[in-house]
Amino acid sequence: MKSMKDKVVLITGAGSGLGRNHAIYLAQQGANVIIQDINEEGANGTSRKLHKFGHTHRLMICDIRKTKQFQNLFEDIEKSFGSVDVLVNNAGISSQQRAIEEITDEILSEMFDVNIKGAYVATRLVIPGMKAKKFGRIINTASIFGMAGTDSGSHYCGAKAALIGLTKAWAKELAPWNILVNAVAPGFIPTPMTNRPGKEKIRSERKRSIPLGHEGEPADISHAVAYFASDASKYVTGQVLSPNGGIVI
Ligand SMILES: NC(=O)c1ccc[n+]([C@@H]2O[C@H](COP(=O)([O-])OP(=O)(O)OC[C@H]3O[C@@H](n4cnc5c(N)ncnc54)[C@H](O)[C@@H]3O)[C@@H](O)[C@H]2O)c1
Repeated sequence: MKSMKDKVVLITGAGSGLGRNHAIYLAQQGANVIIQDINEEGANGTSRKLHKFGHTHRLMICDIRKTKQFQNLFEDIEKSFGSVDVLVNNAGISSQQRAIEEITDEILSEMFDVNIKGAYVATRLVIPGMKAKKFGRIINTASIFGMAGTDSGSHYCGAKAALIGLTKAWAKELAPWNILVNAVAPGFIPTPMTNRPGKEKIRSERKRSIPLGHEGEPADISHAVAYFASDASKYVTGQVLSPNGGIVI
């Protein structure tokens, strides 16, 4: 049985990596997917994959930080596609492993704008439809670095920890409308963000620190997202699920 049949799912940053995988996986479960990304080529790539199997979807090409731009596109799509049942706040940028002294105001703002402001921009717009239906699922994308920190890239850790805080606060605020808010906190998953040339040494060092002995794969995170999106999690809100091979317990 298709557990997501006819559910409208908006996934931010769905033009690459984890977001693309979520789009394909949830579409396979019967969801109608809105692919949002700043990267048109990437979003088209995800769209081609959904087309191939005849999955109903829409494209939303814009910068998640630009409220007005996002709102205009969203309102048009919502009219023809129906209101959003599930929002996956997934768009993110890499920390580039910077030391504190290298994190300028601009770099700090960009990190918090994509992760936190971006999540607000999308969440604010889906909430009225969810409140009207008394049904909604919001899934934020944190990271093990937001739970445990790391020695470089504190702006990334801070933004991801803030997403965990938002998840808990929004879960309490939105519970009266049966809107459940949870977070996934991925461990090390090879994607275009993490699998860049020059990262081989860091990746092999990291692998040694993972109790299960290997990195995860995008499907490990998509399965967690699908759980939070499905009826199986109907009594679960404000929680963080971290598929991470045991690296943060
Ligand atoms: N891959 C991992 O190991 C890992 C671990 C922990 C957390 N995460 C988180 O998972 C999420 C997905 O990461 P990924 O590994 O798939 O990376 P990715 O780089 O492959 O995908 C991120 C997507 O977000 C989009 N994006 C970036 N800025 C945007 C903006 N301003 N507006 C709209 N879209 C924007 C990018 O274009 C890209 O398509 C991120 O939030 C990331 O921090 C990833």
